[in-house]
Amino acid sequence: MTHQLCIVLDFGGQYNQLIARRVRECGVYCEVKSFKTPIDEIKKLNPSGIIFTGGPNSVYKDDSPHISKEIFELGIPVLGICYGCQLMAYTLGGSVSTCVNSEYGKTNTFYDSSSPLFSDCPELSSQNISWMSHTDFVSNIPDGFRITAHTDNCPVAAMENLQKNLFAVQFHPEVNHTVAGLSIIDNFLKKVCRFCGDWTMQNYAQTAISQIKNKVGDGKVLLALSGGVDSSVAAALLAKAVGNQLTCIFVDHGFMRKNEGDEVEAAFADWDINFVRVNAKEQFMSKLRGVSDPETKRKTIGEEFIRVFEQEAKKIGKVDYLVQGTIYPDVIESGSGDAAVIKSHHNVGGLPDYVDFKEIIEPLRMLFKDEVRQLGIELGLSDVLVWRQPFPGPGLAIRIIGDITDDKLLILQDADFIFRQEIAKANLDRSINQYFAVLTNMRSVGVMGDSRTYDYTLALRGVTTTDFMTADFARIPYDVLESAAARIVNEVKHVNRIVYDITTKPPSTIEWE
Ligand code: XMP
Repeated sequence: MTHQLCIVLDFGGQYNQLIARRVRECGVYCEVKSFKTPIDEIKKLNPSGIIFTGGPNSVYKDDSPHISKEIFELGIPVLGICYGCQLMAYTLGGSVSTCVNSEYGKTNTFYDSSSPLFSDCPELSSQNISWMSHTDFVSNIPDGFRITAHTDNCPVAAMENLQKNLFAVQFHPEVNHTVAGLSIIDNFLKKVCRFCGDWTMQNYAQTAISQIKNKVGDGKVLLALSGGVDSSVAAALLAKAVGNQLTCIFVDHGFMRKNEGDEVEAAFADWDINFVRVNAKEQFMSKLRGVSDPETKRKTIGEEFIRVFEQEAKKIGKVDYLVQGTIYPDVIESGSGDAAVIKSHHNVGGLPDYVDFKEIIEPLRMLFKDEVRQLGIELGLSDVLVWRQPFPGPGLAIRIIGDITDDKLLILQDADFIFRQEIAKANLDRSINQYFAVLTNMRSVGVMGDSRTYDYTLALRGVTTTDFMTADFARIPYDVLESAAARIVNEVKHVNRIVYDITTKPPSTIEWE
């Protein structure tokens, strides 16, 4: 089954992926493409609608992204957002000026409800809040357009040319603060572009399963399972498609959280696949003894991981397909990345070239994280796996500052377990994006009973973030921190002090190493 396609044309704004996610929330399949994509290529993709994203400040700047007028002559409906709105006006002969008063944030907006974008939206009245973020505005609309929304400072908050199916909004309908933002996008997609809205994870699962079946035939498939949501959902999909032609190798390096290795194994126990768990803790520990430098730890674990995987893969013999859990944000972001390496990430998704296989299968390549989760639920994967928070490849090894010992590992596993329990008890486990304990290498004086102690300081970290590139520290209520801290010092030996990390990223990072 092929889906109708919406193209999100990326002009470099900060909300590009958010727009794509909103489109998918409307049941419409979309792909993000660079504004540099040649018009011929766009034609070949045969989209039923195009959305221009926001982007840099001014269309008049030489280095600002532009687009050929031809895009408006394809007969495909276009919705321009923010910079995309200004670009549409500018390219079609209107004009753009700099605001006397820039608008930023929640802005009172007046809508014309006769526009298809703003009609049949019960949540939207003639005056509502929209989210603005602009220093330029459309000062003259192109011929054939009419104004359909304005604010006190922005005469053209929305415009449209109904005959040509061209629409533009200066505000950001993709941001939650815009009242009825999702309905506005939905109106464009369903009323203007006539999308039928058949992009659901149930459809996706059926299509993907039959495509995988056709491709794999009776071949052998290998998957490196980390227990993370991406590789687990990929495994579930492959299991449904090819059953025991699939072998999952789960390398347990011993730095998983408390009970986690067993939980992963249990989650797959009932599936008709070959599941190999390699308990390689001793092998990893022997390489890490005395190592305290974070980068050396990461590299050592990454390399050892590959060695262990290689040994196991060899036992299976030649495989035809290797599965990777690559997801759509990785696809969008790869290629644009010349950012400095802050930490060398180890990820089982990035397995190298040593396993002898014919082809790579990436069944989640087109899905956002929340869609991967929905797919996991659709496939009947357990909650433990579907809602698992991100966990770094090197595991607790990079949450123990300094050298790693068995004792420190136990302390951290127990403390982290209690912290997670308290967060879940307070119903915060889905609103805090990542939370964990770190065993610092510092010891200090305390008093317990009548005796002096000289024990470890444990740090708690909780962050809220959408992309993990930047993060804020989570405002965990004091009473939750208090009960976690009290339980940890009482129940875990050798911890006598707890601190909460209140730094943002940047300048910190989420993990401590
Ligand atoms: P940092 O510490 O760089 O972490 O702010 C950002 C996110 O990435 C996770 N992380 C990793 N994930 N392999 C992974 O798969 C790694 O080596 C790794 N290091 C950090 C981290 O947990 C956070 O979610």
